[in-house]
Amino acid sequence: MTHSEGILLGGNKQTAVVLHHGMANRHGLVAGATGTGKTVTLQTLAEGFSRAGVPVFLSDVKGDLSGLAVAGSSSDRIQERVKQLKLAGYQHNACPTVFWDIYGINGHPLRTTISEMGPLLLAALLELNDVQSGVLYAVFRIADDQGLLLLDLKDLKSMLNWVKDNAKSLQTEYGSLPAQSINAIMRALLVLEEQGGEQFFGEPALNLQDLMQIDFSGNGVISILDATQLIHQPRLYSMFLLWLLAELFEQLPEVGDPDKPKLVFFFDEAHLLFDTAPKALLEKIEQVVRLIRSKGVGIYFVTQNPLDVPEEVLGQLGNRVQHALRAFTPRDQKAVKVAAQTFRPKPGVNTEQVITQLGVGEALVSVLDTRGTPTPVERVLIAPPQSRIGPLQGAEREERLQRSPFRGKYDQTLDRTSAYEELKSRSEKQMFSQPAVADKPGRGRKADTIVETLVKSTTRAIGSSLGRQIVRGVLGSLFGGKKRRR
Ligand SMILES: Nc1ncnc2c1ncn2[C@@H]1O[C@H](COP(=O)(O)OP(=O)(O)OP(=O)(O)O)[C@@H](O)[C@H]1O
Ligand SMILES: [Mg+2]
Repeated sequence: MTHSEGILLGGNKQTAVVLHHGMANRHGLVAGATGTGKTVTLQTLAEGFSRAGVPVFLSDVKGDLSGLAVAGSSSDRIQERVKQLKLAGYQHNACPTVFWDIYGINGHPLRTTISEMGPLLLAALLELNDVQSGVLYAVFRIADDQGLLLLDLKDLKSMLNWVKDNAKSLQTEYGSLPAQSINAIMRALLVLEEQGGEQFFGEPALNLQDLMQIDFSGNGVISILDATQLIHQPRLYSMFLLWLLAELFEQLPEVGDPDKPKLVFFFDEAHLLFDTAPKALLEKIEQVVRLIRSKGVGIYFVTQNPLDVPEEVLGQLGNRVQHALRAFTPRDQKAVKVAAQTFRPKPGVNTEQVITQLGVGEALVSVLDTRGTPTPVERVLIAPPQSRIGPLQGAEREERLQRSPFRGKYDQTLDRTSAYEELKSRSEKQMFSQPAVADKPGRGRKADTIVETLVKSTTRAIGSSLGRQIVRGVLGSLFGGKKRRR
């Protein structure tokens, strides 16, 4: 079986299930209990996209997806599957891959700047309460008005200190800036530093185009974020991936419904995102998932249990792979029921029962057909990947890092003049006894309290679904990211 119009996901005696390239931006879900075959399914999908010329980004939580970088080898299990699925011409193949790692150990360091992450995500990352978040928003605005760049944690810390020292004179313009809130933000930053967050903020920041590469043979490059360390900091992990999605959303142009996606994004351990995101952020996530489709980005959430995904998001995941679920406890049973109900029934398939009986690498699947309608549920064996099932050895990874097209581009931190240096030099010159903000035109007549400002900007963003352009702009500023300054 070969399928030029899509990816062969798997099959049974009667049917081959193909994920259509043209429907791949309608998102998807891969769910199932531990050890049921989620990662291998993800591998098969990622390979399929790569071969179709679609770049892929994925987070590798256990390190086993690094096997995508080398050709697989024959095993009885794979032989058998090739025979069962009648995969004529099955070969072992490697995929073009680039490795990333926030900590810079198992891949190129992946960074963003404080101002690109923006106050909304940063507040969620730091677990700030409403008042503290309001203060953080104000600090961003003050930095902006003062022409100070917030690139790394050092910048943010010196900015916070400066605001604390000048709170009185800043108050008319920005409202009350209580020292105790600033101190709380400082403490949260310390925790983040202990988790290694320091390395994540700074320059050179990631250029998104580097995640959207096609190799010389026309295969999409698979960007693998080694998250084996990062996953131990669930909040940093999920906010980082969310930041990346928000950036893609903001920066990519509208393409409508393309023949195939511009990028496919796999979000592993997705429950972490939905567990840690505060409510205001969940609404944003739902919006981004809904709107990013027309930018040609397909998002695939990978999680143990479909109940982990909020209903509004779940409803937007068109292509579904459900591996086995256990049904020991009442909660388990509820999850099985919910999972079963998300499928379009097929006569002769007792979805609810089958979910608990599926073998490893076997799944219930439904994809969107060429008209965008979900196909009736099929019980299938998932097609085996052509690359290695299992991790790379240290030396193999090292060799790939040496050969990486981005070698040298991100490896050294760059520390240009930003808020920290600027404030330090101002203090040495004693230049800033009075913050120069009082008589800016057009503002400052009656300062909103900061919480008011925060609420306003949130309401504004939620209420806007006017034009694409507007939504894009508003969503962008809602996530709080600013235009890149180069
Ligand atoms: N489609 C498949 N073809 C061949 N073998 C498979 C397939 N799917 C799974 N397997 C086998 O089952 C093992 C476990 O699968 P996998 O690692 O994908 O589970 P998982 O659901 O990701 O587990 P965890 O939740 O622990 O990460 C694999 O190492 C592989 O040996
Ligand atoms: Mg896995």
